[in-house]
Amino acid sequence: MNSLVAQMQAVLEDAREALAGLSSLEELEACRVRFLGRRGEVTLLLKDMGRVDPSERREVGRAANEVKAAVQEAFAAALARLERGRSLASGLDVTLPGRLRRAGRTHPVTRVMDDAVAIFRRMGFVVADGPDQETVYHNFDALNTPEDHPSRDPQDTFYLADGRCLRTQTSPVQVRVMESRQPPVRIVCPGRCYRRDTPDATHSMNFHQIEGLYVDRRVSLADLKGCLEEFARELLGPQVQVRFRPHFFPFTEPSIEYDFSCILCAGRGCGVCKRSGWLEISGAGMVDPAVFEAVGYDPEIWTGYAFGMGIERIAMIRHAIGDIRLLYENDMRFLAQF
Ligand code: PHE
Repeated sequence: MNSLVAQMQAVLEDAREALAGLSSLEELEACRVRFLGRRGEVTLLLKDMGRVDPSERREVGRAANEVKAAVQEAFAAALARLERGRSLASGLDVTLPGRLRRAGRTHPVTRVMDDAVAIFRRMGFVVADGPDQETVYHNFDALNTPEDHPSRDPQDTFYLADGRCLRTQTSPVQVRVMESRQPPVRIVCPGRCYRRDTPDATHSMNFHQIEGLYVDRRVSLADLKGCLEEFARELLGPQVQVRFRPHFFPFTEPSIEYDFSCILCAGRGCGVCKRSGWLEISGAGMVDPAVFEAVGYDPEIWTGYAFGMGIERIAMIRHAIGDIRLLYENDMRFLAQF
């Protein structure tokens, strides 16, 4: 055998032996310089190729390249061995599978709120805002609520030490908006409300409403019905029906309550709609002239409708949630489903 090839094979043996005894990356680097560096043993031998007899050059060249590849492979293996050992020594096993980081999601209540606002904005409503800590004047008096109305009772309303209260509805924002600008007005106000209810499957002391108010000349009950029907279809689908029932609110006349047909059972009756086929959403009506007077609008000129709806209720219908408390418990097993 050509002596050059024999020499190279000997170098390969040396390299393997040296690599096997390594215990650090620094030693590995020294070893790399010794064999594969610019003046390393393998490199120098390859340079000698020029002196090989031309008749042998092809065969010797191939053998030399094989040896070089083998040396490089031995280095790669040694590097992998050292790196693995190093990560294990530091308590980190880079061969373990990765852990998926859970991404956050939008809460179902926030989703309904965002969707509702988007739908009303497309209809021409703009978003208005008001404080959660409200004056009794805005929450009750200006809304034509009599002194002895049961909703004012401290058993139902949270009163603050300074005489204000936590708003029991988003309707006071109607008053604030009308106090601050001239008609026509077309606003929605999404927000938190507070009532001293005993929590159960359908009641929470803290819940959300979205309020709507439209004031202009010649606004009619038909406009209100059209608006709510359109909203229901946009939010829950074209098959949804809306039902209006006579009701009473101090600040609207006439007043109605409205129900959406249950989208879960298509009106046939199920557990969520308590077998009735309908789900109560909230109240609405034509703005009472007494409210216009309280804010300084002339009731002879201006007409308007208002509505309020419970956001949680809609979220519960949308996702077939049977208990309102699930929305506030922050249980990941529940929240991760949306
Ligand atoms: N504020 C009423 C409630 O909380 C709902 C409502 C809003 C009714 C606007 C009429 C007009 O029940």
